Amino acid sequence: MTPDIKPLVAGNWKMNGQRDQLDQLALMSKGADAELSQKLDIVVCPPATLLYVATALAEDTGLKVGAQDCHANASGAHTGDVSAEMIADCLAEYCIVGHSERRTDHEESNADILAKTQACWRAGLKAIVCIGETEAEYDAGQAETVLSSQLAGSLPEGATDQNTIVAYEPVWAIGTGKTPSPEDIKAIHEFLRNELIERLHGPGERMKILYGGSVKPSNAAEILMIENVDGALVGGASLKAEDLLSICEVYRKV
Ligand code: PGA
Repeated sequence: MTPDIKPLVAGNWKMNGQRDQLDQLALMSKGADAELSQKLDIVVCPPATLLYVATALAEDTGLKVGAQDCHANASGAHTGDVSAEMIADCLAEYCIVGHSERRTDHEESNADILAKTQACWRAGLKAIVCIGETEAEYDAGQAETVLSSQLAGSLPEGATDQNTIVAYEPVWAIGTGKTPSPEDIKAIHEFLRNELIERLHGPGERMKILYGGSVKPSNAAEILMIENVDGALVGGASLKAEDLLSICEVYRKV
């Protein structure tokens, strides 16, 4: 945690979830009660097909809704793509950009992610910008160099704590059950905080830095209490309301 930063836990459903999964979303919005949502922002990012119905279910509750990706353009001849404006039109408030699965599967570059982040702002969405090193980079001791260049390349000028959230997700920890040690997470988040302050000054001090990669109810308390860890981006464990809420509950008593 960081003093004066309201934490955020975001669930990334990835390419999972059809209408029969909406009962989980309804349970999440029930669990995001007034007391809990005062302690942290709780966001669920279902697939685009469920966005509009998700925001209707979450309306007037403590649950907020986000998308998993957007196109950089507002509209046009881009078959199959979804613009940030369309996401905002579904009444969602957040959008993940630069997830490592997008960087890998769709060969997205830092420049692509920078443009998508600007698109999010244009549409009034808060961008959750993901960065993370691969296992080979980690093993070679290159994590900080890689993260620094991803941050520099993906974060546009004008980034503030109001329009952007950074998510540190070591690629080797995503969906693997492996996590860095608490000492490693602390060191990387401190490094990222310093990078953000150097570049953005005041807003860099206040920008949320999430940790992502195999966060689950059993390790959430330990990870979320680490200095400069301002929440989590949760994949697998966000599909069930019980698991996502139990991660969020870490903040109820602090
Ligand atoms: P995981 O995924 O929690 O299943 O490891 C995290 C993510 O990809 O955001």
